[in-house]
Amino acid sequence: MTEQKTIYEKSSPGRRAVRFPKPEVPLTALPNEFLRKDLVLPEVDELEAVRHFTNLSQLNHGVDTGFYPLGSCTMKYNPRINEETARLSGFAKSHPLQPSETVQGNLKLMYLLQKYLAEISGFSQVTLQPAAGAHGELTGVMIIRKYLYKKGETQRNKILIPDSAHGTNPATSAMNNFKVVEIKSDARGNIDLEALRAECDDTLAGLMLTNPNTLGMFEENVQEVCKIVHDAGGLVYGDGANMNALLGIAKPAEFGIDILHYNLHKTFSTPHGGGGPGSGPVGVVDFLVDYLPGPLVEIVEEDEEGNPFYDLVTPKHSIGRMKAFHGQFGMMVRAYTYILMHGAKGLREVSEMAVLNANYLMHKLKDTYKIPYERTCMHEFVIEGRWEDAPDIHALDISKRMMDFGIHPPTTYFPLIVKEALMVEPTETENLETLDYFVEVMLKIAKEAHEEPEILHAAPLTTPIRRMDEVKAAKDLVLCCVWPEDAIRAE
Ligand SMILES: Cc1ncc(COP(=O)(O)O)c(C=O)c1O
Repeated sequence: MTEQKTIYEKSSPGRRAVRFPKPEVPLTALPNEFLRKDLVLPEVDELEAVRHFTNLSQLNHGVDTGFYPLGSCTMKYNPRINEETARLSGFAKSHPLQPSETVQGNLKLMYLLQKYLAEISGFSQVTLQPAAGAHGELTGVMIIRKYLYKKGETQRNKILIPDSAHGTNPATSAMNNFKVVEIKSDARGNIDLEALRAECDDTLAGLMLTNPNTLGMFEENVQEVCKIVHDAGGLVYGDGANMNALLGIAKPAEFGIDILHYNLHKTFSTPHGGGGPGSGPVGVVDFLVDYLPGPLVEIVEEDEEGNPFYDLVTPKHSIGRMKAFHGQFGMMVRAYTYILMHGAKGLREVSEMAVLNANYLMHKLKDTYKIPYERTCMHEFVIEGRWEDAPDIHALDISKRMMDFGIHPPTTYFPLIVKEALMVEPTETENLETLDYFVEVMLKIAKEAHEEPEILHAAPLTTPIRRMDEVKAAKDLVLCCVWPEDAIRAE
């Protein structure tokens, strides 16, 4: 089979998946302006269509098919009970424009989720509106801006961001017209306190801090860092993408964070990637509650028997809406289910296991791979994918080779401050056998890197699509229609 084929190759004129019963009303021709002659639709029967999409779905790696240690992204298992509750008809079939009295159960769930997230992190109030972590960041930085403007401190135009931070942090600050100043990390992977102090003047609006940071390290001076920023009149934004290490153990508001986003699609097990959509609620301390996007869910009255009535309320100085309607409601149901299924003790165990699993892997790999910051890690760790005695091998070669063993590559080349970085996050749900298998594969790859580097350079060898030109793939994205020749499977 040599020639290129299109994904519509199964089409056969006249084949249909659905046959409608004979209509009971007269047929009318479709208006011509709705008909697109250039739209070539495949004509296939139902079974062919199902097989086609099932086969396509199996070309992808997912957390349901194999280990997915993608650092910072927390690709944890999505418990099936979350899906059961999200599909309950009262949740799934309600309409966002229904009057509040007809959706009291849904509003109660949102109210309680706001409360639980606030309790988990020590904040006074939480908005559920943002649709992703980055969207939560945008919300948080807009709150900082409005708060400072309202105080008349318009000269505060600078946000500090550690050099280990995720790219969305500087992007968000720049989008809000703040000047972004990078703060370097010290030799232990913490924020360099002297560099921080040097930037804390009366133009400081705030600091965006990820803790644990993207090196997988707990910020050892976090209270001191927050104090320095507060003393200079700035606010501390917490990037909560790494909350999976802290549940039930530490509350960001208690170590000095003023605003923080949670990634429900990381910490609270709602699907992400193609299975999303995401959800990035934002929590704030007391003096920022009035600035949250509206609406929030609150108890607005109680009847004589003490039954609460839940309704949507917009805070006094709200930055405005961040999302249509209520946000990603289906994700809220899933996260709420996850929190209830675990309870306070169970959530703490989640973080303890996540940290234990990461430390187990780091310990097993540390004699073979270079660990840039050798101290106890949190829920993830970074290794270097390079050896002086194997100079032609790069982190990318290691990542590609992992795919041959059914493992999704870790986050590669991030954080930027580590050379040839591979960022590994096993999550709490993987068992010992899976962790040991990963170690076995990593040790085998290290051996190949030294003895048979050509295997790594050619990898992946077993996937439907082999090594891509990554730059071309990003710049010249072809999403459908033509399969590359070597991707066509023998039929
Ligand atoms: C540390 C960190 N911050 C922010 C984000 C952005 O979150 P999202 O992908 O939900 O927009 C990520 C995502 O990977 C992250 O790892």
